[in-house]
Amino acid sequence: MKAVILAGGMGTRLRPITYAMPKPLVPLVSKPMVMHIIDSLPNEVDTVVLAVSYMKEKLEEYFSSHDCGRKIVLVNEDQPLGTGGALKNVSSYLDDTFFAFNGDVLCSLDLNDMLKVHRARGGIGSIALWDVEDPTAFGVVGTTGDDRITVFQEKPKREEAASNSINAGVYIFEPEIFSHIGSGVVSLEREVFPKVLEKGLYAQRFSGYWVDCGTRDNYVKAQRILLERGSALVQGCTIDSSVIKGQNRLIGTQLEGCTVGPYVTTFPGCRIMKGAVVSNSMLMDNVVIEEGAVVKDSLIGPGYVVKRGEKVESNILA
Ligand code: GDD
Ligand code: MG
Repeated sequence: MKAVILAGGMGTRLRPITYAMPKPLVPLVSKPMVMHIIDSLPNEVDTVVLAVSYMKEKLEEYFSSHDCGRKIVLVNEDQPLGTGGALKNVSSYLDDTFFAFNGDVLCSLDLNDMLKVHRARGGIGSIALWDVEDPTAFGVVGTTGDDRITVFQEKPKREEAASNSINAGVYIFEPEIFSHIGSGVVSLEREVFPKVLEKGLYAQRFSGYWVDCGTRDNYVKAQRILLERGSALVQGCTIDSSVIKGQNRLIGTQLEGCTVGPYVTTFPGCRIMKGAVVSNSMLMDNVVIEEGAVVKDSLIGPGYVVKRGEKVESNILA
């Protein structure tokens, strides 16, 4: 079986970090964002097709030097084709039921279960649904009592939203879907889903957690979820009279009389100096937090230096 990961977006909401790397490769706790999806795939998925465009060279480089235990195929779009166009562009690889994912989702959905239910229902597709308080930043789905989707609205106004159930960005499709995707730039959400409702598009609800990691707020939320679920670790660090609070993942970092945590991740080569306070944040490789600086709810790109006494709150710096 095959899985497609839509991985060609420009990651605008994670800029400036995504000026230097595509969103799927932004590290999230223990590995790049996209690897959380790849590692969660059922065993029967032997091939992963990545629909890429923005910074495809970085993705090629990553996958040529990392063995993911599955065949990885990268398919490029010269110009981004939108979510539907990207899917159509990889159709030659897909002649049977397949999974498809937005490349920035982290969730606890049981994919084996979703596949079983999809097969039993026999529709053209299944979409994982998640309930949120404010659905306006997402695809909103209305269903019948038996979870057949009757409405799909991409990013509707609050007063027009059909429900609080949103498209979680995890799908199973039959290849028949391709005959409903036009050529060129096509949005799966705006143009294709509303058109195929009568072909049997079904909802798969689940519990646990779900996050779209494509914004700063949600990224730090995803990080917290993973840290609380067993990814916390302190390894290869020098800890010089520093205070470490709560759950963190600190790797190869020099802690020099600072306060770190909760929910901080650091990557090798970071240095957090005397009197600095870091919480709920991610520091990529070789970041330096100078004396007395405060970093909160933020993502800091590789090699960045937060100057002495500086305060960084709810920000992305690179
Ligand atoms: N190959 C390719 N080409 N991939 C693309 C393109 C493209 O032109 N445009 C977007 N993508 C990829 C992104 O990289 C991302 O992994 C995925 O498609 C979704 O794009 P986002 O830009 O992250 O969309 P969103 O978060 O605003 O909305 C989508 O996700 C929500 C759930 O997180 C929609 O699918 C919503 O309906 C959904 O609720
Ligand atoms: Mg997204």
